[in-house]
Amino acid sequence: WPVKSYEFIETTEPRPGVGQITLNRPKALNAISTPLITELNHALLAFDSSPQISTILLTGSAKAFAAGADIKEMSTLTFSEAYTTSFIESWSLLTTIKKPIIAAVSGHALGGGCELALMCDILYCTEGANFGQPEIKLGTIPGAGGSQRLTKAIGKSRAMELILTGKNFTGKEAGEWGVAARTFGSWEELIEGSLKTAETIAGYSKVAVMAAKEVVNKSQDLGVRDGVEYERRVFHSLFGSEDQKVGMKAFAEKKKPEWTNK
Ligand code: CAA
Repeated sequence: WPVKSYEFIETTEPRPGVGQITLNRPKALNAISTPLITELNHALLAFDSSPQISTILLTGSAKAFAAGADIKEMSTLTFSEAYTTSFIESWSLLTTIKKPIIAAVSGHALGGGCELALMCDILYCTEGANFGQPEIKLGTIPGAGGSQRLTKAIGKSRAMELILTGKNFTGKEAGEWGVAARTFGSWEELIEGSLKTAETIAGYSKVAVMAAKEVVNKSQDLGVRDGVEYERRVFHSLFGSEDQKVGMKAFAEKKKPEWTNK
């Protein structure tokens, strides 16, 4: 992937093995426009194929993770334009990334911003984060998976209430309802906590980490019987990796494993 300079995002490598993508369109509270998603997709693919990177952290600013799809860009779109260009479909690229993605959410995560966070593998947020699917107030509905992923995360009745009323929910509620794996008191604590988790994951065998992500995500699409069978196949296949031997030998010898990522 060629090195690229971005206008609406920033990329850094803040810790060994960790690639950070920061949405950076402050004037529009990180509203997700087509140019922004194009840059995000480029950066995701670059980190996914980089041998130096094991884990990706996706964040915004203290004030906004993202305030939704860009309403100004969408306002005049016609059905035929949306349909023939598969508007929003390109956002799904994030769900094809093989390395774990942690979303660190502070401030607004509304509409498409909430949906983008829900696509990530682990969601961390501040207690004061402002989540919601307010599309109903604009005469439309969630278009980047919110009706499906939010419903899976919090159940039908709560999701229905939020999507039909456009009422927001706090980061504290996101933690209580299981949308967020963990909540933090401040932006600084959120970033530090997210980086620590990213670094921990990056310290393991890349082969095992990617396989673990793959099988957990399968649970979202498969029934339990098929899912367990899928997991077992992938588990068996890891006996063909060098790192399974490295990890188990190191345990027996009471040593720290030196992963080969093979
Ligand atoms: N699209 C485009 N621009 C946006 C935006 C969005 N989603 N959200 C905020 N902005 C812009 C505002 O227009 C404003 O720009 P100007 O200074 O040029 O007027 C700037 O960001 C700052 O916003 P506010 O002045 O409104 O800031 P605030 O602090 O008063 O309010 C807010 C913050 C409550 C988040 C408010 O901006 C807001 O309600 N934003 C829209 C939220 C929304 O409806 N999101 C869903 C979009 S639809 C969608 O996402 C579809 C989908 O499922 C894919």
